[in-house]
Amino acid sequence: MLALFQVGANAQHICPVIPQPSASTEVPAFFKLNKSTAIVVDDESLLPAARYLQKQLLSQNKIALAIQAKAKSPHIRLSLSKKAGAESYQLEMNAREIHISGAGNQAVFYGVISLLQLTSSAKSSQDNLLVQCWNIEDRPAYSWRGLMLDESRHFFGADKVKFILNWMAFYKLNRFHWHLTDEPAWRIEIKSYPRLALVGGIGSYTNPYAPAQFYTQEQVAEIVQYAAERHITVIPEIDMPGHATAANNAYPQFSGGGSEKHPEFTFHPGKESTYSYLTDILREVNALFPAGMLHLGGDEVSFGNDKWLADPDVKSLMARKRLKTVQEVEQYFMQRMADSVYAMNAKLLAWDEVAGMNLPKKETIVFWWRHDKPQQLQTTLDKGYQTVLCPRIPFYFDFVQDSTHSLGRKWNKAYSGLQDVYDFKAANLPGVNSSNQKQILGVQANVWTETIADNYRLDYMLYPRIAALAETAWSSNDKKSYTSFAQNLKQHFLLYNNERINYFNPFKK
Ligand code: ACM
Repeated sequence: MLALFQVGANAQHICPVIPQPSASTEVPAFFKLNKSTAIVVDDESLLPAARYLQKQLLSQNKIALAIQAKAKSPHIRLSLSKKAGAESYQLEMNAREIHISGAGNQAVFYGVISLLQLTSSAKSSQDNLLVQCWNIEDRPAYSWRGLMLDESRHFFGADKVKFILNWMAFYKLNRFHWHLTDEPAWRIEIKSYPRLALVGGIGSYTNPYAPAQFYTQEQVAEIVQYAAERHITVIPEIDMPGHATAANNAYPQFSGGGSEKHPEFTFHPGKESTYSYLTDILREVNALFPAGMLHLGGDEVSFGNDKWLADPDVKSLMARKRLKTVQEVEQYFMQRMADSVYAMNAKLLAWDEVAGMNLPKKETIVFWWRHDKPQQLQTTLDKGYQTVLCPRIPFYFDFVQDSTHSLGRKWNKAYSGLQDVYDFKAANLPGVNSSNQKQILGVQANVWTETIADNYRLDYMLYPRIAALAETAWSSNDKKSYTSFAQNLKQHFLLYNNERINYFNPFKK
């Protein structure tokens, strides 16, 4: 009997928070949360975090709390501490008090999120929510915890984007990379070139005749604000010089032509007017997104630059600038546009095709995506670039997540399973070592949407892999355990059910 009791008392429970915190201890007590529990804010700067807690407790647990400067226990207290790190927080709980502290609003916000995860699985008794107490000390492994959504292939709209931003916040993801332009359509209003949205917004990957769908500048501002309230930075991608088909449908005078498979695929690198046109567009985009980061794509230009070498303006450019190859023309183009970005005091972000260029290190972030080209990662790191890791396997979420799935991509037989996302370790990549590891800002999943035409399927490809992404991005390797994660994740499936999310359940075969 005694032995049994001891086993019970010593049993180490898993902290039911995704991503798993840096340190956590279960406290043998429950906090009884009810409508007379006040949220106490020690410093006015923490009001946004307090309001978020208030709003989410109301929507998630149907409990409406008041925010006060002072209140008797039991209460939830938010306070500033001298803790290092803008994202590090401490959550201390006992039956009398829940205390969240950190260096600022963002840090305390993440403490609030952990508390919301604990309340999300708490049981109710009469009018009380019985929240198991935990003491948590937490900080992220990576500063870049990203998710990219391609809305050119298919348009999902503001409500779905906000829904995703909510879940990103719940998982402490903090960068939303918005792929707004590509071959099928252009999805952002540009006031100085209205046809980009009105004409370029027509069509999708599956229906070239779909009526124009795009975000107005007002909607963009609203989404950027919504994301900011959740400490998520929104980064727009305006892809160039390739993947420009939709833009070229709207303004054919700036087209550099395409190929048989990818008609009108590129912007024209040999015309001066192209550079001022694109710079004007980027000025508007930069003004809409306070991130101070513009992603210019730069990928797969060879899919459709067949016409460049025969074009008189490109030939003349090559002669004037002594450019010998089509790749040098591409790099010239990217350099010109990069200079425009830097002149706006913004950072240039681009796919790993730019790794070979000599761009300023502090102002440039390179996204390694070609998992079959580890030398691109090597070059990126050797050149000293800040790097985001998003190799197709396991971070392309348009890849299937189970060997039995047929709709979606595979790479030979390889795909992006939940555990592959979970088990990803930067240190295992060729070329990554202790001296260049600090250049790695973090990881990102990319949801390309050729095979994702509606919200139902978007959910299926995103959930639950988004949770594994979060733990890979936030939790240190020594805290990770797939078995523990799977146990927590099964609880989150109940939350997914509540929100009618059409997730894939890898545990039910
Ligand atoms: C990409 O997948 N073309 C970045």
